[in-house]
Formats: sequence, structure tokens, C-alpha cells
Amino acid sequence: MSYQIAVLAGDGIGSEVMAEARKVLSAVEERFELAIEYSEYDIGGAAIDNHGCPLPEVTLKGCEAADAILFGSVGGPKWEHLPPNDQPERGALLPLRGHFELFCNMRPAKLHVGLEHMSPLRSDISEKGFDVLCVRELTGGIYFGKPKGRQGEGEEEEAFDTMRYSRKEIRRIANIAFEAAQGRRKKVTSVDKANVLACSVLWREVVEEVAKDYPDVELEHIYIDNATMQLLRRPNEFDVMLCSNLFGDIISDEIAMLTGSMGLLSSVSMNSKGFGLYEPAGGSAPDIAGQGIANPVAQILSAALLLRHSLKLESAAVAIEAAVGKALSDGYLTGELLPASQRANAKSTSEMGDYITKLVKEGI
Ligand code: NAD
Ligand code: IPM
Ligand code: MN
Repeated sequence: MSYQIAVLAGDGIGSEVMAEARKVLSAVEERFELAIEYSEYDIGGAAIDNHGCPLPEVTLKGCEAADAILFGSVGGPKWEHLPPNDQPERGALLPLRGHFELFCNMRPAKLHVGLEHMSPLRSDISEKGFDVLCVRELTGGIYFGKPKGRQGEGEEEEAFDTMRYSRKEIRRIANIAFEAAQGRRKKVTSVDKANVLACSVLWREVVEEVAKDYPDVELEHIYIDNATMQLLRRPNEFDVMLCSNLFGDIISDEIAMLTGSMGLLSSVSMNSKGFGLYEPAGGSAPDIAGQGIANPVAQILSAALLLRHSLKLESAAVAIEAAVGKALSDGYLTGELLPASQRANAKSTSEMGDYITKLVKEGI
């Protein structure tokens, strides 16, 4: 069986971390005797520079022809002067999510026992570890609601976004969260702002209805502001966090940092046919791009998620996850995971990738 992956490295650290994920995938192919073909396409700022638009037709067609998309990150200061809809994020990433109806975004954040020192949490909290799955609705809500725009002039000029959710959109993402919880610790925390937003009131209503089909799963509701706080106080009490698009965006950066770095959080974005895009939850990190110091783990773990969910190669995914876990517990860490006093011991992006590749080959 041969597989086809569309590779969209994008901007900033995208190409640096993608190179490491490709090394690790090669090792997996060798070890598990897989035939994977890769087609690289420009996306985001790179596509603006080379093709004059952030999501060229050739890129979209290449993604349509593939079994899955491995995505890096897009955006950066170079393209921020462009009109909003021509910028990499709104001109490429969001349309890609919309085009394939990738409504289901899952971002798993785990603080491994033994790696508590990487977390910025106080030690009595981090020593308990945590394992949170953020299930984020990705193609609705305030990101996509119409109307969106600006009108008027001078001091009267105003801008507006529309938050909008249908029962159907809420129901399908809630089902995913409950199904995920059944395979985990059987708890769903639904994040909303039902004390203010009409969308959140409907969200609660539909989530309550869906919960009836999963009597073995505990459901709790929490307001987004309280959620950000409780995550700092008692992260180990959360299992699956079910979030609308904007709230999931916020929660995912927070859970990433609780594990120690934005560079650790992987993600899958999937549609109802099982087609997926796999990307680190973080961005193009312009502040560290080009220095060879970005953490490639989120990109590498996103490749593992691709093997699991799109190619159904569970043992290959587990092999990568085990190798990443071993590298981290061996103290193989990029600089942002170390206190300033220990940065001299930091591994570079490629050293990290090489070590994880070696561990995969050795069958750790
Ligand atoms: P960011 O996630 O790029 O960076 C936030 C912080 O996390 C920075 O300090 C960065 O150095 C750090 N960081 C992120 N990834 C890291 C890694 N792999 N290793 C080490 N440190 C890492 O967020 P931002 O600065 O708000 O955004 C920068 C650009 O990226 C913007 O143009 C934004 O729109 C875009 N962005 C793109 C995506 C995507 O393509 N999926 C996601 C988020 C942000
Ligand atoms: C993410 C990113 C994107 C989002 C941006 C770049 C559009 O922050 O994937 O978390 O807000 O969804
Ligand atoms: Mn984000």
C-alpha cells in the first residue's frame, strides 16, 4: 500500500521543523517498510512570494489528491501590511480548513511524569502531571460567521465579527468530544460564556442533549474565564475540554505552555470523512525563526497523529511518540524548555530531530 502526503511547510520555523518531521518519517518508513510519497507545495507567505497568492490552485489541488496534509505554520511580519484577506492566516490556513470542512480539531497536551521541571507551574501542582485533550470546533463560530468587516468613516468607523453556531455544528463536535472521553478518563468539560453569549446558551443546551447518549461520561460546564484560571490551579482534574473555535484557540496555547512550550503541542484537524490536516498548534514563531533553535517536537508528533488517524498506522505512530518521550526524558531539550542558566546545554532543532530519528530506527 502506498500513501500520498501533501507537505505544506509554510513560513518562519515551518520549514525548519518540517525538515525534522521528514527525517523521523523516513525512519518510520524504513522500520515499518512503508511506501509514503511526499508532494511539497507552497502555502502562506511563501506562496505569496512565489505565486502572488497565499493559497495557490496547485496547492489546493495537491491537497485534494493526497491522503492527508502535513502542515507547518504560516504568517509573519513580512505579510502583515497586506489587506487582511490576502494575509497567510486568513488567505490560506482558514480557507484550507473551510474548504475541507475540517471542523474537528484535537490538541493533546500531556505533562509526563518526570518532566515536571519543564512546566511553569508550581511544583506541588506540576508533580501530579496532567493529560488534557482540547477538542476545538474549527470551522464555525466567530472565525467564520458572517457578516464580518468594517463600515463607516472617521470616529464613527466600526468593525464587526459575527459569532454564529447551529445546533448541527455544536452536536457534531460535542459527539467527538464524548467519544474521545470514552477512550480516556470519561470526563468532558464544556467551555463557554453562557452568562453573556447567546451562542454559548445554545452550546450548553446541545451539549446537554448529546451527553444523554454517553451516560458513562461525566459532563461539567465551565466559563472560559474560569477555565483559564482552573487550568493553572488544577490541570490534572481536566480530561477532554470541549471548546468553540475562539475559546479552543485560547485554551490550546495555555495547555501547550503548561507542558513547557508551544513547541510541544501537536494537532489534527479532521472532517466527517476522516480526511485530516496535521499541524503544530503554534505558529511561525518569527522571534526565533532562522536560528535553528525551534522545537520540532510538535511537528514530529503531528506526523505521528497523521500516521494514526489518516493512514491507520497505529504502531508507527506509537513508535514516534515513544521516541519523543524517550528523547525528552533523556534530557534532550531545546532552549525554551530550559532555565536560562542551563541554555548552554540546549539542543538545536536538527539535533533534536536526529536523536528522535535515531531512537525510532533503534526501535525504542
Ligand atoms: P507563535 O506560536 O508563532 O509564537 C508564540 C511564542 O511561542 C513565541 O515566543 C515563539 O518563539 C514560541 N514558539 C512557538 N513555536 C515554537 C517552537 N516550535 N519552539 C520553540 N518556541 C516556539 O505565535 P505568534 O507569535 O502569536 O504568531 C506568529 C505568527 O504565526 C503570526 O503570523 C500568527 O498569525 C501565525 N500563527 C500561525 C499558526 C499556524 O500556521 N497554524 C498558528 C499560530 C500563529
Ligand atoms: C491556531 C492559530 C490559527 C487560529 C490562526 C493562525 C488563524 O492560532 O491554529 O491556533 O486562530 O486558529
Ligand atoms: Mn492559536
